[in-house]
Amino acid sequence: MTSSDGAGAYLSGFGNSFATEAVAGTLPAAQNSPQKVPLGLYAEQLSGTAFTAPRDENRRSWLYRIRPTASHKPYRRRDNGLIASGFAAEASPNRLRWDPLALPQDPTDFVDGLATVAGNGDAATGSGVSIHVYRANRSMADRVFYDADGELLLVPQQGRLALATELGRLDVAPGEIAVIPRGVRFRAELPDGTARGYVCENHGALFRLPELGPIGANGLANARDFLTPAAWFEGVDRPVEVVQKFQGNLWATTLDHSPLDVVAWHGNYAPYKYDLAHFNTINTVSFDHPDPSIFTVLTSPSEQPGTANADFVIFPPRWMVAEHTFRPPWFHRNVMNEFMGLVHGAYDAKAGGFAPGGMSLHNCMSGHGPDLASYAKAVEAALQPHKIDNTLAFMFETRWVIRPTDWALAAPELQPDYDACWDGLGNNFRK
Ligand SMILES: [Fe+2]
Repeated sequence: MTSSDGAGAYLSGFGNSFATEAVAGTLPAAQNSPQKVPLGLYAEQLSGTAFTAPRDENRRSWLYRIRPTASHKPYRRRDNGLIASGFAAEASPNRLRWDPLALPQDPTDFVDGLATVAGNGDAATGSGVSIHVYRANRSMADRVFYDADGELLLVPQQGRLALATELGRLDVAPGEIAVIPRGVRFRAELPDGTARGYVCENHGALFRLPELGPIGANGLANARDFLTPAAWFEGVDRPVEVVQKFQGNLWATTLDHSPLDVVAWHGNYAPYKYDLAHFNTINTVSFDHPDPSIFTVLTSPSEQPGTANADFVIFPPRWMVAEHTFRPPWFHRNVMNEFMGLVHGAYDAKAGGFAPGGMSLHNCMSGHGPDLASYAKAVEAALQPHKIDNTLAFMFETRWVIRPTDWALAAPELQPDYDACWDGLGNNFRK
């Protein structure tokens, strides 16, 4: 086996057109596909948008690799019993919450432990999302994975992921996110031995930074803090299984080499990672608080302006300074649909029951907000500036109703009494 240096080297920026080579002199000069590529490599274009997508939407990269992707035997079904191609037949308006999903006992890698918990996605028509969790206790070995159904937004909750991808290596820890574009092959290794996290599989328009409007040129997630790996490759000539998710099912074939063999690439379609600690959190300095959209890190727009196919929203550490204001997330109902997870710490609208690694679902027009204990504390609090610290919750928010899978509804971690957290919010009305 040979592999290049360059692991851990990153290129800064969001959506930039990068050019990177693990071996000097690999990138062809002046054209994408010369008659003979330097060093005997093959040129291959990887397109993440239609060829004719508008210029500012268009995403593609040119890969210069040891063997072309086209050389492979037929794929065969290789389901893991946890990936769902559909969701519960009947959507429920009920609010749902799960305790952290248990880590596996048997040897389980990222692909083995990838389980669909909910979604509204339709890979066939390119809309919505599927939401998964991964739980693994061993690195993928002689196996790579790619998703033909959408890009993967990975939110590690426990344990680091060392992601060896076709376009380079990303090391991602809890508190960071990674996005693996549709079609990009990768191997997930576990430096800490175990790993658990959330996945938003985006079938719609590619994630991008939200517009900033009156906020101005700076704020929220800044482009310079997004990191894309420099080119890296491995020359491995032994059987490697390629598993893909295609139309909701897993399929596999075996190559006689590793496909992580891209020696150089250029373009704007590539994996990236982002440390959520770099999020420039913006909030009120007077009273009330803005809608939680102020915490949007990435957005996947839909055809309807301002109504996202999916938003990735975080609730990070921040100062609370609002005067004469109910400071926790308020009671509300929403046309959007909200799936939440907690990376670490506590969420300021829940006094208990929402643990790191857990998840909750509040669908369209289902009332939710602080539980009784959080409400009672907030309305009596002496309002001094204070910092909500050591916490990181997030939300996948989407315009379409999210349906749990039958597997998630049958999971022992599903809490039978979530509604009870709002018990006791009684009649305090006094004339
Ligand atoms: Fe909400």
